[in-house]
Amino acid sequence: MSTLPLSAVILAAGSSSRFKSTQPKVVHHLLGRPMVSWVAEACREAGCSDCIVVVSPSSEAAIRQALPTAKIAIQPSPKGTGDAVLAALNDINHNGLILVAAGDTPCLTANSLASVIAAAHAQQIAVATCQLAQPRGYGRIVRDSLGNIARIVEDKDASPSDLTITEVNVGLYVFPVAVLRTYLPQLKPNNKQGELYLVDIIALAAQTGVSSKPILLPSPDEVQGVNDRTQLESAERYLRHRINHQWQLAGVSMADSSSTRIEPSVRLAADVELAANVSLLGQTSIGSGSRIGQGCVLSNTHVGQHCVIKPYVICESAQIADNVSVGPFAHLREGTLLETHSRIGNFVETKKLRLGRGSKANHLTYLGDADIGANVNVGAGTITCNYDGANKHKTTIEDDVFVGSDTQFVAPVHIGKGATIGAGATITRDVPAGALAVSRTPQKDIAGYKRKQKTKS
Ligand code: UD1
Ligand code: CA
Repeated sequence: MSTLPLSAVILAAGSSSRFKSTQPKVVHHLLGRPMVSWVAEACREAGCSDCIVVVSPSSEAAIRQALPTAKIAIQPSPKGTGDAVLAALNDINHNGLILVAAGDTPCLTANSLASVIAAAHAQQIAVATCQLAQPRGYGRIVRDSLGNIARIVEDKDASPSDLTITEVNVGLYVFPVAVLRTYLPQLKPNNKQGELYLVDIIALAAQTGVSSKPILLPSPDEVQGVNDRTQLESAERYLRHRINHQWQLAGVSMADSSSTRIEPSVRLAADVELAANVSLLGQTSIGSGSRIGQGCVLSNTHVGQHCVIKPYVICESAQIADNVSVGPFAHLREGTLLETHSRIGNFVETKKLRLGRGSKANHLTYLGDADIGANVNVGAGTITCNYDGANKHKTTIEDDVFVGSDTQFVAPVHIGKGATIGAGATITRDVPAGALAVSRTPQKDIAGYKRKQKTKS
């Protein structure tokens, strides 16, 4: 690879009219990440030391928010791709190379970028190309007798014979900075759109012995541009497929990878098994041997090794240790910590909960703002009443407590080690270690009771 300094310029000042959105299209998400940050990340991975995003005055705020670390250059009005690169040139303070990419091609890989970078040097422009069966809409590559690019002709300006060319410009280039400084100011809007075309530099530079080398990228999927919502879906489907395939190669089983959504920051160990329709989002990680059931959605959640997450469990910022079983139909909310060998069953909601080693809450329960020790059995229908309408309060349950079904803990309340709570209790005071707490209206039997009958009409 070249040792020249290398900056990236990402073009994102177009009007994105086909997207029909109040937001610029490049901040729309693919797998949880703004479109433009896929491009920026690939540039960084390919070795660009800095990244300048060219925005319009109206898209500036949204793009700054989507990419807080990027430098921003403003193109006052959309006068064409050549004018957009010119807007970024003031921020370049070296004489090396500039990689130019479009903010709407999120599927390009760092590998492809690197192959284009490797072909460029002070006397040579490198241009990524692709063979497309349906080249409509793309600029066509016109090669010279040596196989270099003589010029690129836009679809709208092409002659009938140009239109038969199937090798297209994908909008990814590496230019020597000096070439841009010399020729960008000389561009003329001599075309149907009245724009300053970046690609016109190629014919200008050729006159002074700077050649343009085409780098043919093999995958039409990778070069796809996103101009409307249908293409947004198609690009996301491809990215999803690419990530899933990589995890399969790394030892993850998927029952139906076409329905599996794994965001790029997720980490999985080998021998993880994913059932159909699983979504793993944000900073989620899953340890070896764990199985995630159908329809689960895990975001920013850590799952340890050999866990079983049964179908339709929703986890948000939860920590699950090894050998834990959860679900089906459970909702683990932020601040949930399930220690090893613990169990959460169906229709259980948790929030800010520590559930100690080997403890269980198997049925129909809400545990919020609670610290529960080891080997505690939480009976069906137990509720921590943590909220008094103004403030949240904590429930603490020590090791080896047995909580009978249908218990309410009116927090703040502390249950001592080994205590037993009789079913149907409303616990409003602390329970000493080893005690039995019962709070129940005594049962009354009325003999021979006659139930009311419906009157016949
Ligand atoms: C461009 C290329 C075409 C290529 C295609 C690949 C030119 C003249 N044409 O065409 O050869 O086949 O990409 O997708 O370069 N932009 C600005 N400011 C502007 C105009 C555009 O920042 O004034 C940005 C857009 O936001 C977009 C990128 O540049 O990210 C490409 O512009 P677009 O109008 O989509 O060009 P295409 O017609 O797709
Ligand atoms: Ca485009």
